[in-house]
Amino acid sequence: MRKMRTQSAPWRAAAVLASVLLVGGVAACGNSDTGGGGSKDDGKITMGFSQVGAESGWRTANTTSIKEAAAAAGVELKFDDAQQKQENQIKAIRNYIQQKVDVIAFSPVVESGWDTVLKEAKDADIPVILTDRSVDSADKSLYKTFLGSDFVKEGRLAGEWLVEQKKTASGPVNIVELQGNTGAAPANDRKKGFAEAIAANPNLKVIASQPGDFTRAGGKQVMEQFLKANPKIDVLFAHNDDMGLGALEAITAAGKVPGKDITIITVDAVKDGMQALADGKFNFIAECSPLLGPQLMDLAKKVHAGEQVAPRIETEETTFTQAQAKEALPNRKY
Ligand code: AHR
Repeated sequence: MRKMRTQSAPWRAAAVLASVLLVGGVAACGNSDTGGGGSKDDGKITMGFSQVGAESGWRTANTTSIKEAAAAAGVELKFDDAQQKQENQIKAIRNYIQQKVDVIAFSPVVESGWDTVLKEAKDADIPVILTDRSVDSADKSLYKTFLGSDFVKEGRLAGEWLVEQKKTASGPVNIVELQGNTGAAPANDRKKGFAEAIAANPNLKVIASQPGDFTRAGGKQVMEQFLKANPKIDVLFAHNDDMGLGALEAITAAGKVPGKDITIITVDAVKDGMQALADGKFNFIAECSPLLGPQLMDLAKKVHAGEQVAPRIETEETTFTQAQAKEALPNRKY
């Protein structure tokens, strides 16, 4: 018996060690399949982000902000560029659901048509954050929060500036409008805000309004058509800087002086737009900030931890005249 007891001691130690290793191993496997949405339990949050595309300077700055902020916050970012197509965004979101990321964030290319895929994310228990642009879903429980600008306000600020500039105009002021891509929140809302503001002066008339898809090429092409069809254009309202910059080429090619013969108002205030404003080619810009990355990462950590967040978080923005652009330009980061 004694002999047996002395022989069993090492066996017992080995058995204890094996069971410790086994339990530890099982625990580690279990954590890799759970950990808030099934990602590795290395303390890192995994975010699946579907970006609209790379259509403008604003978008490039927004993508940089998100990537840099994710790296700084220790968030593992899975990034997809949807090339301005809703079907690509839906596909990317479904992939993120399959991969069991911790949080899904996206900037919806258009406002409508998201309910089904958002419901799929909700059923999979993956929180969704809308960033930059919102959706028109009636069911607000499909996403946790919307972080971004007030696009109606941006359009209104642009319109109010024009009303002030033209308050002494005795005859009609002909305005052409370059819209963003059809169905996008900033296109719908900026159009609405601008129209509401200029209604204060019946002399101010939008004589043509077409989508230029937020791109320089689109802005140039549509402005060429506007110039051919309308001998008297007094004002251009472009829904972003890039379309305004494209339109500059068309205006100059038509023998007109941008900023003088045609008053140009845009939205965004990216570096190239601010340069055009400082150079006197643009007349006014309503700012739209693309620097959403740090706030987005902060929100992702909060929703992942199950904290309540405000359903709407609005970005702080300003406006720029030519003199203000000259002053701000040297410190403009994007
Ligand atoms: O959603 C933000 C808008 O999208 C920006 O104003 C525009 O430049 C971008 O493409």
